[in-house]
Amino acid sequence: MRVLVFTALVCLMFNGSSSNGYKHEDFTTESGENCAVPRPCEESSDDFFRRQRPFTDNIRSNVIDTMRRTPMYNLNKTQSIFDAFSDQYELPKACNGPLKVYDFIVVGAGSAGSVLAARLSEGKRASVLLLEAGQGESIISGVPILAPVLQQTDYVWPYFMEHQPGVCLGMENERCFWPRGKAVGGTSVVNYMIYTRGMPIDWNRIAAKGNYGWSYEEVLPYYMKSERANLRGLKNSPWHGRDGELNVEDVPFRSKLSKAFLDAAHLLGNRRVDYNSPDGFGFSFIQATINRGIRTSSAKAFLHNNKKRKNLHILTKSYVTKILIDPQTKTAYGVEFQRLGRKYTVFAEKEVILSAGPIESPHLLMLSGVGPADHLRSFGINVIQDLKVGETLYDHISFPGITFLLNATQLTLVERKIATIQNTLQYTQFGDGPMSSLAGVETIGYIKTNESEELGDIPDIELLGSCASLASDQGNVVAKGLHLSDWLYNQVYKPIENIDSFTVLFMLLHPKSKGLLRLGSTNPFQQPKLYGNYLTHPKDVATSVAAIRYIIRLIDTPPFKKYGAKLYKKKYPNCAQFEFDSDKYWECAVRTITSTLHHQIATCKMGPGTDEYAVVDPELRVHGIRNLRVADSSIIPITLAAHTNAPAIMIGEKAADLIKNTWKL
Ligand SMILES: Cc1cc2nc3c(=O)[nH]c(=O)nc-3n(C[C@H](O)[C@H](O)[C@H](O)COP(=O)(O)OP(=O)(O)OC[C@H]3O[C@@H](n4cnc5c(N)ncnc54)[C@H](O)[C@@H]3O)c2cc1C
Ligand SMILES: *[C@@H]1O[C@H](CO)[C@@H](O)[C@H](O)[C@H]1NC(C)=O
Ligand SMILES: *[C@@H]1O[C@H](CO)[C@@H](O)[C@H](O)[C@H]1NC(C)=O
Ligand SMILES: *[C@@H]1O[C@H](CO)[C@@H](O)[C@H](O)[C@H]1NC(C)=O
Repeated sequence: MRVLVFTALVCLMFNGSSSNGYKHEDFTTESGENCAVPRPCEESSDDFFRRQRPFTDNIRSNVIDTMRRTPMYNLNKTQSIFDAFSDQYELPKACNGPLKVYDFIVVGAGSAGSVLAARLSEGKRASVLLLEAGQGESIISGVPILAPVLQQTDYVWPYFMEHQPGVCLGMENERCFWPRGKAVGGTSVVNYMIYTRGMPIDWNRIAAKGNYGWSYEEVLPYYMKSERANLRGLKNSPWHGRDGELNVEDVPFRSKLSKAFLDAAHLLGNRRVDYNSPDGFGFSFIQATINRGIRTSSAKAFLHNNKKRKNLHILTKSYVTKILIDPQTKTAYGVEFQRLGRKYTVFAEKEVILSAGPIESPHLLMLSGVGPADHLRSFGINVIQDLKVGETLYDHISFPGITFLLNATQLTLVERKIATIQNTLQYTQFGDGPMSSLAGVETIGYIKTNESEELGDIPDIELLGSCASLASDQGNVVAKGLHLSDWLYNQVYKPIENIDSFTVLFMLLHPKSKGLLRLGSTNPFQQPKLYGNYLTHPKDVATSVAAIRYIIRLIDTPPFKKYGAKLYKKKYPNCAQFEFDSDKYWECAVRTITSTLHHQIATCKMGPGTDEYAVVDPELRVHGIRNLRVADSSIIPITLAAHTNAPAIMIGEKAADLIKNTWKL
């Protein structure tokens, strides 16, 4: 009821303002009367998050400490290094906030939203408001080796998966941590920078489900459009773009273990490939979204050079609480958001586009009346469109626990040893050295285990070779990012802190287990309930164990034996009843450190009208609602053999074209 009255009021305001409202010509000379008028908030997002903030400022990072001591950075003792040299996004002139009306409002400046807003505002044919809850990046978030540290900062939304019996047993409170980026640039500001696109079969399967325009052949040009590749040995490859904005480069730092990994893979019969070509089934060094050793977030790639566009307003610390949808005409016409303790209503003449990522896009849809009808009603939300928002959720799980010990030193990245002023200067001047490492992750390989039911070269596992283990940073960074329990770390990993050790991770590419996202309350600041349902399908358990067997075989080869690599056999205390190295033991181990690689997808799944689980159509329009699209990783309908940053950017690129076509821009 209250929702209806309020919506009606807003409609009146909208109708009133559109007659004398924004015109393209006066965009550059806006006067105060075109600005949105803020109101005070009952409860502000700032207060809410301050209260909920799970982290104290006790990040322990030797690398950050060393940067503080490096004169070049010129930081004083009390200054937060995360505030140092941070990116600023200025407000429109003559306004303390946004205008009242724009052509397009994009919610979320993440991997997808950044490129989308940049493309829509090209050529000044449309006005675009980009709303982002987070703030600009800092010099720290650009340093690859610090990627895992960022999970302990305000650069993430600190979500937790609901408790699920039998997984995440070694995490604090047996709950998995699901951080998501909260910054201009979104999750591309905190991710591990691995650049992957997915196999042709993945996209062709998506297209075959009625998603016209999404076959591999059709999405490839969008990947290449963004890309500015600078990859050794691939200068003339027809599969890489060179004129885009997103730097894709080799990681300057390579340990000897990375070469051992590729040599060992070769001995087991695997090919060396460009895994981002259509013939990607094999092994390779990682291709990364970095520019001479510095992270290229989606914001750096697509927004930095366009900050001054008069028709693109980028507002940081702006927290969208609702999409305004007329319940009669089922047309989206604006958004409500909060910024610095004030509340704004802003209108879209053409479209609202949700790019808030796989958790907040479905969350906002549901809060705005689009979602499973019974579920919304149980929270007293007026249902505008009954859709299965949040009812599909896939994720990629991994296992960073298997550890190999070396009898050689200087092969792995031991955090306290590499945190030297010399390495910091080396990095600052040349962008290389250990600080340019993706926190130790170096190589990638696609394999098919004997559990796969696929025919042909279709992988079910991705391997990630690294030159570090959970013990390499004394439990201060990676384990903290996972919220690993102290009992587990102290008993298993602490004893090997002084020995060089490394892990090889696997990623379960096509899990059969399916998760879910539901509302927890009608408070927009309260996180939705996230159900991973990890390992609920027996095939996922069997494939994980098969992956571990493969990893053990891979390390048991001359390239690794040369360094004395051997499996660390300390049992997890909670798995003591199983014989070490038995299938049951490894199952227990994976259930103990069930760690996500943060590729949640499908919560606003794309599909044609005949797909009862579809939320958006193949042109990303929310089924049944006008002028509302979703463009981010939440629309990916099925699992991909890929980490999801590049796919999200591709989706942003493609969405921009779809929208430009609709409005003849
Ligand atoms: C720790 C970690 C490591 C990862 N490593 C890799 C990797 O190496 N390679 C890879 O390819 N992928 C990686 N990923 C995954 C990948 O980065 C994400 O899938 C991808 O960035 C998602 O893009 P998106 O556009 O869908 O959402 P996001 O990039 O998450 O963008 C959503 C944006 O919306 C904003 N937002 C949300 N709600 C609101 C609101 N109500 N109001 C205003 N703004 C809002 C958020 O703050 C955010 O900026 C990683 C993810 C994590 C968390
Ligand atoms: C150090 O930085 C903080 C935060 O920017 C500032 O408040 C303080 O005055 C600075 N102290 C010195 C000694 O410069
Ligand atoms: C795969 O191999 C393992 C051990 O080599 C075996 O235990 C398992 O049953 C095999 N799985 C299938 C599906 O054949
Ligand atoms: C390390 O491994 C090499 C090769 O196996 C071996 O010769 C050497 O004795 C080992 N050193 C130690 C300290 O174990």
